Amino acid sequence: MWLSPFLPFLLYLVVGAAAGAVDIELVSRTEDEDLERCLNDAVGGDKDRAQFPDEALYQLRDVKPLNLDIPVTPAAVTYPKTTEEVAEVVRCAVKYRRKVQARSGGHSYANYCLGGAGSTAVVVDLGHFQKFEIDRASWIATMGAGTLLENSEKRLHENGNRIISQGVAPQVGLGGHASIGGLGPLGRQLGAAADQVVEVEVVLANSTVLRATKDENKDVFFAVLGAGASFAIITEYKFQTSPEPGEMVRYTYNVTTGDAKTLAKTFKAWNKLVSNPDLSWKFASTLTILDRTININGIYFGPRSEFDSLNIEAQLPSGPKLELFIMDDVIGKIGQTLEDIGLHLSGSQASFYAKSLAFTPSTLMNDKAIDALFEYLEKSRKDALLWFVIFDLSGGYINTVPRDERAYPHRNVLYFMQSYAITLGRVGQTTRDFLNGINRLIVDNVPGVGGAYAGYVDPFLENAQQEYWGPNLGRLEKIKAEIDKDDVFHNPQSVRPATP
Ligand SMILES: Cc1cc2nc3c(=O)[nH]c(=O)nc-3n(C[C@H](O)[C@H](O)[C@H](O)COP(=O)(O)OP(=O)(O)OC[C@H]3O[C@@H](n4cnc5c(N)ncnc54)[C@H](O)[C@@H]3O)c2cc1C
Ligand SMILES: *[C@@H]1O[C@H](CO)[C@@H](O)[C@H](O)[C@H]1NC(C)=O
Ligand SMILES: *[C@@H]1O[C@H](CO)[C@@H](O)[C@H](O)[C@H]1NC(C)=O
Repeated sequence: MWLSPFLPFLLYLVVGAAAGAVDIELVSRTEDEDLERCLNDAVGGDKDRAQFPDEALYQLRDVKPLNLDIPVTPAAVTYPKTTEEVAEVVRCAVKYRRKVQARSGGHSYANYCLGGAGSTAVVVDLGHFQKFEIDRASWIATMGAGTLLENSEKRLHENGNRIISQGVAPQVGLGGHASIGGLGPLGRQLGAAADQVVEVEVVLANSTVLRATKDENKDVFFAVLGAGASFAIITEYKFQTSPEPGEMVRYTYNVTTGDAKTLAKTFKAWNKLVSNPDLSWKFASTLTILDRTININGIYFGPRSEFDSLNIEAQLPSGPKLELFIMDDVIGKIGQTLEDIGLHLSGSQASFYAKSLAFTPSTLMNDKAIDALFEYLEKSRKDALLWFVIFDLSGGYINTVPRDERAYPHRNVLYFMQSYAITLGRVGQTTRDFLNGINRLIVDNVPGVGGAYAGYVDPFLENAQQEYWGPNLGRLEKIKAEIDKDDVFHNPQSVRPATP
């Protein structure tokens, strides 16, 4: 063609870019257009259900990152309505070599539902997956992966006064929660959210739709219940539900304006109380440290008379009083303790950083670590609008589930620590150093302590996969190599395929 010698020059004028970059620019533009076309078709040609960065309201309406400290502009946000549409969206992403992440509640601390920092993934929003059914013989409930925790609680209550053990934040999605573990006050009695799942429907990287149970497609079942984001998109769960508890006792105990010594004494008493191997599984407990303050609270899932026989008040330092509330209705109340002390991150957007650490009966906080912690909290520099450190009792039934049944690996943890700092504007190094310092002083004083909960994403964690999945990581990497060797389901800390 006569024009062809001039074509690069013309393109140079049109695109206004350096001549060398022109060809690449052109290719990627048409490829983006092809991806857009493919995704539009995947959701039945419904323009509203496939959104792209050129939309004016893309960030505000479609991306909506939870953590404002981690900007991300995914290639597309899609809103499929059926499992087949999910499979088609995955097919498009694979064809145009994009990573894929599902979004259910959008509550990943590091925006992993959007692919994480700097990602150009295709996002599969599961908001339309709201199926609810309950079998009144087996009491197995089928729930769409887009169900938020507040709605699973409500729907189970209204359909036979049933319950599952799950976390306390109403806006968290079952999709990301039960696929990472899912820890809450009923965990000691009923297990993590993942432990109650008896069946899943998933879409794999090659767009195959399958169902998995502990007997059928075993490896998929194992992998998605603790490391789901790395392996598949879960569209539906079946949960074994339990009857709601009857009478419950909510308790709180506060030390306010305490100095480091007083706070350390209170922590030591709690540490002793919860490390009693005979402690009832009906007893849930959280110790929260804020500026010069400790709040101990939780629920006893049983009648007042049983709670009284535990003699909790006598095991805590005298001075502050134990305050009790008797409840016999679970709806919206189990999570209330957190809301009460203003810790509710509420699901609204903020800039924050968080870290976690796991403690087993042989690596619990000891007196030296406790003294060092409170001295550090009093003296260290902080740049945060708000910070808090939570110690959350786990164990009980969770630790009876065999480690090879589900990817969630923390089967000997007695409690987890989570630390948070919320900042005005971006999270600075001072704030990160402040939280890193907490972990460091504990590691220095508690031999063998380690491990982190993948549900409390720490994007700066070194050796993250090992910390998150520990003894289950090797098997997960092998399964990854089998079912997603090209690493389609990917975020900055997802399981990578084993190398042959
Ligand atoms: C305010 C707040 C309170 C919290 N409280 C608790 C708590 O009490 N207990 C606890 O255990 N955790 C808690 N978490 C952590 C929470 O469980 C995790 O962040 C969880 O992953 C969020 O799930 P999501 O669907 O809301 O998030 P998303 O951001 O939508 O997803 C999180 C990750 O899971 C993946 N994912 C989402 N849906 C699916 C799916 N259907 N199939 C496969 N992968 C999927 C995403 O790709 C992403 O990688 C809390 C988090 C917040 C922000
Ligand atoms: C502890 O503090 C919380 C939040 O301020 C409050 O709701 C609760 O009643 C307090 N409990 C006691 C025993 O003072
Ligand atoms: C899709 O992947 C699964 C898991 O690796 C495999 O069993 C199945 O045969 C694959 N299907 C196709 C059509 O390739």
